[in-house]
Amino acid sequence: METLDFSIKEMNLAMRDESPHKLLKWAYQQFGEKMILACSFGAEDVALVDMLCKVVEKPRIFYLDTNKHFHETYETRDRLSEKYRIDFIQMLPALTLEQQADKFGDELWLTDPNQCCAIRKVEPLTRVLKNEGAWITGIRRQQSATRAHSEQIEWDEKFQLVKINPLVYWTLEDVWNYIHLFEVPYNSLHDQNYPSIGCAVCTKPVKPGEDPRSGRWTGFSKTECGLHKGD
Ligand code: ADX
Repeated sequence: METLDFSIKEMNLAMRDESPHKLLKWAYQQFGEKMILACSFGAEDVALVDMLCKVVEKPRIFYLDTNKHFHETYETRDRLSEKYRIDFIQMLPALTLEQQADKFGDELWLTDPNQCCAIRKVEPLTRVLKNEGAWITGIRRQQSATRAHSEQIEWDEKFQLVKINPLVYWTLEDVWNYIHLFEVPYNSLHDQNYPSIGCAVCTKPVKPGEDPRSGRWTGFSKTECGLHKGD
């Protein structure tokens, strides 16, 4: 672990009752241009885009473009780009869809979704985080059992940098209140029973009352794609 000029444990205690906005401010003071937001264009992340734009003049934000997102997700990217005047950094996998099909067969997401996520999400994430000091994510404790112990500030063992989770204590209602209050553009699929949105080929709508993440990788035991610990 690289040397940090603060204690993660102490900072988590100090920040416990502070707003996500304040946490982002502190993170920017610590990491400056070495801090980057991971944006999937889901509800949490569009709220974070709005917040970060209020804290940093030229925020650095990337998305992992698996080439398999819903067109509504790309539309959300474009609406945010226009409203906040930002260029999102597009991270593409090393393999095109054609190269992936040649090497591993057609529709790898159906035969081996773990390998598909490793190629289309985890490898480009590893590349983008290589020279960063901290990454910001939209994970929340309430999202799943694997995220229930996440902290506002963490050392990410897998990618070897600091991980900042400003919304870790927020409920889904907090997220939506924020989006509506500040009229943040959001993915229209959220209004069509898609609470959690990944690739179009691996995401289904859920029924009222069902686990919000149950529409992800339906039919597989998979619940995480390898970006966050717990998988
Ligand atoms: S996932 O691991 O199951 O896909 P989820 O969709 O809940 O994760 O998103 C959790 C956080 O991971 C997001 O708030 C975002 O920070 C990051 N993330 C997920 N997908 C992407 C993506 N395609 N591009 C960039 N960041 C992403």
